[in-house]
Amino acid sequence: MAVQPVVYGSSERPPRGDYARAADDYTCPQDHAAYTEQDHDTYRRLYARQAALVQGRACEAFIRALPALGECDRIPRFEAINERLSRATGWEIVGVPGLIPEVPFFSLLASRRFPVTDWIRTPAEFDYIVEPDVFHGLFGHVPLLFDPVFADHMQAYGLGGLKAQRLGACEHLSRLYWYTVEFGLIREPAGLRAYGAGILSSPGELRHAIESPEPLRVPLDIERVMRTRYKIDTFQHTYFVIDSFQELFDKTAPDFTPIYERLRGQPELQP
Ligand code: PHE
Ligand code: FE
Repeated sequence: MAVQPVVYGSSERPPRGDYARAADDYTCPQDHAAYTEQDHDTYRRLYARQAALVQGRACEAFIRALPALGECDRIPRFEAINERLSRATGWEIVGVPGLIPEVPFFSLLASRRFPVTDWIRTPAEFDYIVEPDVFHGLFGHVPLLFDPVFADHMQAYGLGGLKAQRLGACEHLSRLYWYTVEFGLIREPAGLRAYGAGILSSPGELRHAIESPEPLRVPLDIERVMRTRYKIDTFQHTYFVIDSFQELFDKTAPDFTPIYERLRGQPELQP
């Protein structure tokens, strides 16, 4: 049975990926032979630019694990990454045609499988792309899946997502994902660093998040995050800062059911 494509937010653009290839759980094997030389060249140039920018801006765990992505002059094979990743934390990455719905997404995370879009942006989108592509998935998300505490947090998030779905609270939980897994900052002995994948895979946002005096940087507060809307097409106005992945794990460990109930009566906050 063919699955339904998913578009980003309220976008009217057609979905990018070929959802006819996807199985019922939305995964599809990475078609490595289908990448063109131009695709590999785009990856190589993106990697080279970003690998230079993350020095002094990405958290220590990211810098340490980045070489585990392997090849940097061609799009790596997911199986090659999985050999190292499954040994390190029991996670694996699986190909998907693009964005997938909440329940299949949470289910994959709950079983320690991280969905990575398998296509790459066009050269015209080199500097900015709204949807996640294979560069965002690999460069942005995979290195931290090598960190044991962060890896456990991602699985807990998947399980929490399935629960939020039953409670009608997905919107609140997706904000938590946005402001941590995608756009989170961490305070390390060496200074403020990024751990969010949306920051780490974006040249402009990385400098904005770490160096610009403009954005607000506040300590992670779960209820505030869950009330705060977010922007998908500009740099963030607010970043939430943690001191360690253990803090993230511990702050998200309590049962969110009473929080979801409390939030029902409260107004949303602007980004
Ligand atoms: N503790 C959350 C709950 O009870 C689950 C969760 C864990 C959510 C980790 C996000 C991250 O719903
Ligand atoms: Fe992402």
